Amino acid sequence: MLDEGKSNFFDAGLSPEIFSNISRLVCEKSGIELHEGKESLVAARLGRRLRALGLNSYDEYLSYLLTDGAVVEIVHLLDAISTNVTSFFREAHHFEILHNYLELWKNKGQRRFRFWSAACSSGEEPYSMAMIANEVLPDTLFDWRILGTDISTKVLEASEIAVYSQGKVKEVPEDFLKKYFELKQISSENSFEIKSFLKCKLVFKWLNLSQIPFPMTGPLDVVFCRNVMIYFGSRVRDALLKEITRLLKPGGILFVGASECLSSLPSDFRTVGPSTYEKIG
Ligand SMILES: C[S@@+](CC[C@H](N)C(=O)[O-])C[C@H]1O[C@@H](n2cnc3c(N)ncnc32)[C@H](O)[C@@H]1O
Repeated sequence: MLDEGKSNFFDAGLSPEIFSNISRLVCEKSGIELHEGKESLVAARLGRRLRALGLNSYDEYLSYLLTDGAVVEIVHLLDAISTNVTSFFREAHHFEILHNYLELWKNKGQRRFRFWSAACSSGEEPYSMAMIANEVLPDTLFDWRILGTDISTKVLEASEIAVYSQGKVKEVPEDFLKKYFELKQISSENSFEIKSFLKCKLVFKWLNLSQIPFPMTGPLDVVFCRNVMIYFGSRVRDALLKEITRLLKPGGILFVGASECLSSLPSDFRTVGPSTYEKIG
């Protein structure tokens, strides 16, 4: 726990100049833009790194980040800065649309499907996609896989472990909870682990969405790129959309976050639902 005195001490040490230098570094490494007003948040999050490294000031921390040997610390920095809020079946209408498209493609005779959760956080989003896919595309008849990527190594680890607290699974329908989760008791609290038959359909990889091109070739049927573009400036966002366009098949679907609606819709897409776009084929 951060004690009050220490928190103030660290907060006070983050001068506008150091904040601006750290922001520049974070933006260069991840595309994440830390705007004015985020100083306290950054101070609190980086305060933990200072303590872990035994450093006394943000100035020392910045100097350390700028040394050649700080590759691992850059990973910790991005882990600390990134906001990982997510939930199962977040924006539930997206999963209804996904369900409908999978039915449509299945009825047209498609047998192979590739999906991507581009900023998967701790796995709730790609596992929600997997539950829907498994409902529509029974394993023996269809070949489907999901790639989950993120810049934070901490959340990728959580995605692979795939154990969620009682509070985290509250959005999961009761029948899905029984079918796709194993009840586990860790200490006095219930927790729920994704069953291995579903887990094995997903693979998790580290990927920085601000560094283009990506090592995938596509074509992808569905891309979820939700609640991450809000952290980027327009240059990174436009380049990312171009890369997603390259990877999606004609007729493929892109889901973005509710607050990320593509106001200047690229000509390759048409709107097919709330914050949902189909690549024109
Ligand atoms: C708010 S969460 C969104 C999770 C999920 N997509 C959802 O909508 O519930 C944002 C995620 O984007 C990731 N992220 C931020 N910058 C990134 C980047 N440059 N490349 C890849 N992932 C990034 C963060 O680590 C975090 O897990």
